[in-house]
Amino acid sequence: MHARIRATGHYVPPKILTNADLEKLMDTTDAWIVERTGIRERHVVEPGVGPADLALEATKQALEEAGWQPQDIEFIIFATLSPEMPAPGSACLLQEKLGIAPVGALDIRTQCSGFVYGLSIADAFIRSGMYRRVLLVASEVQSPFLDMSTRGRDTAVLFGDGAGVALLEAAEEPGVLSTHLHADGRYARELCIQSPSSLDHPPICPERMQQGKHYPYMNGREVFKTAVATFPKAVKEALAHNGHGLEDLDLLILHQANARIVEAVARFLRLPPGKMFNNIEKYGNTTAASIPIALDEARKAGRVRDGALVCLAAFGAGFTWGSALIRC
Ligand code: UT7
Repeated sequence: MHARIRATGHYVPPKILTNADLEKLMDTTDAWIVERTGIRERHVVEPGVGPADLALEATKQALEEAGWQPQDIEFIIFATLSPEMPAPGSACLLQEKLGIAPVGALDIRTQCSGFVYGLSIADAFIRSGMYRRVLLVASEVQSPFLDMSTRGRDTAVLFGDGAGVALLEAAEEPGVLSTHLHADGRYARELCIQSPSSLDHPPICPERMQQGKHYPYMNGREVFKTAVATFPKAVKEALAHNGHGLEDLDLLILHQANARIVEAVARFLRLPPGKMFNNIEKYGNTTAASIPIALDEARKAGRVRDGALVCLAAFGAGFTWGSALIRC
């Protein structure tokens, strides 16, 4: 048995935060953000809305496309770095909303690589015969974690909220051809959120908050440089493993972290713009959700015909990275 993507969905909250809105909150400009990142706006939630809420809307779309009922789902994998609470995981909250107890519900924490890691787990479950129908979710509510002042401008302008999902099913023909997962923990502190932390007693305290340790820290240049060098290797690894070359690829979907990263990778691989899918200008970096949001948009825009060879590649905090080659 093989795993194949049967349906996809995505959902972003209705509220939009434009670069002009950010200009009012911090010392930044629309010109800086567009030139350095390609981002023009991002969606943000209202208080009280969590990753499982966004995921529920995206899941409903995918269920409708597949013609499945929630009860058809046999297992939930939920990738997020922004769960409603440290415990339990968002997968359990989504399971409650779907009303499908007692199916297994697993949270994974591999940040921007979350969807690719989750795809690998779902693929392995299905190929082993353990499950036939898996819901893979990637959903982020990052806006409350951002420092919307000039101190936080190097990260606050980048991130947005949103969810993307895929329903995977057992199939005779291969859909997920292979997945390739990597990490290098030596870079864990180059992109991280340090607080609350089990190293601190108590895990959350006013001093750490005053220092801004509950906001993301990123060594932007290091992350940028490593991402540009790593993406081409991840894409080539997936293609080579399956005996394919770049010329066989119909579409490459990279994690949407920065339009300049995507452009640099396209130049390096000599891929024409028609073979890349980009939507960062509308959503910013939605971390784990960025690949499934892009995949769903690409499918719905007719950019992924039946039988197309699509490569997904992710890179982010950890550092974690990975790729997947799929036959749609
Ligand atoms: O999803 C996880 C993976 N994440 C990524 O892949 C992100 C990778 N990194 C990046 O995308 C880029 O490094 C950034 C977009 C974060 C930053 O772009 P950069 O071209 O590397 O800028 P920089 O950090 O070198 O900063 C250049 C200048 C600095 O000022 P000085 O020191 O030259 O006077 C910053 O203080 O830009 C300043 N700056 C800003 N100015 C206006 C930083 N953020 C802003 C801002 N608005 N929002």
